[in-house]
Amino acid sequence: MTAPIALTTGGTLYERIGPEALAALVQTFYTHVAADPELAPIFPPDLTVTAEKQLAFLTGFMGGPPLFHQRYGNPMLRARHLPHEVTPRRAQAWMACMAAALAATPQIAPADAQELYTALSRVAVHMVNTPDHR
Ligand code: HEM
Repeated sequence: MTAPIALTTGGTLYERIGPEALAALVQTFYTHVAADPELAPIFPPDLTVTAEKQLAFLTGFMGGPPLFHQRYGNPMLRARHLPHEVTPRRAQAWMACMAAALAATPQIAPADAQELYTALSRVAVHMVNTPDHR
């Protein structure tokens, strides 16, 4: 689930997107998260460290250097999300924030954006740990 994406052509997704565009994507993503009524309540008010961790994770996830592993250890993403109520609705909101951030990052080619979005949607369903309340 968190293994780098294997590709047949064009290098890894990390090589194709590049560190600058990825950093821009993560920044934009968290501005959307902070403004989302479903998501903002479960995130810390200061998203600086959260964004740093996400950038480190996605770098490795996309086939770049395993920065999250090196800095924070095994991601164990589902376990790390258990303290937070991740409902199906919040997973949808998370993916909507990612779609909006990808659309606002034109440095990322549409085919690469689609590939990343699809890979993240597979991870997001596994983060759900709580039913929708209402
Ligand atoms: C499905 C909806 C999701 C929700 C609602 C959600 C929510 C959260 C929350 C509340 C945190 C804690 C933030 C903090 O205290 O700094 C967090 C951390 C994190 N999330 Fe998610 N997340 C979701 C999906 C994902 C996905 C799909 C990924 C990876 C592709 C991901 C990667 C991470 C990482 C790397 C962290 C930092 C873990 C740590 O504290 O070490 N999340 N997430």
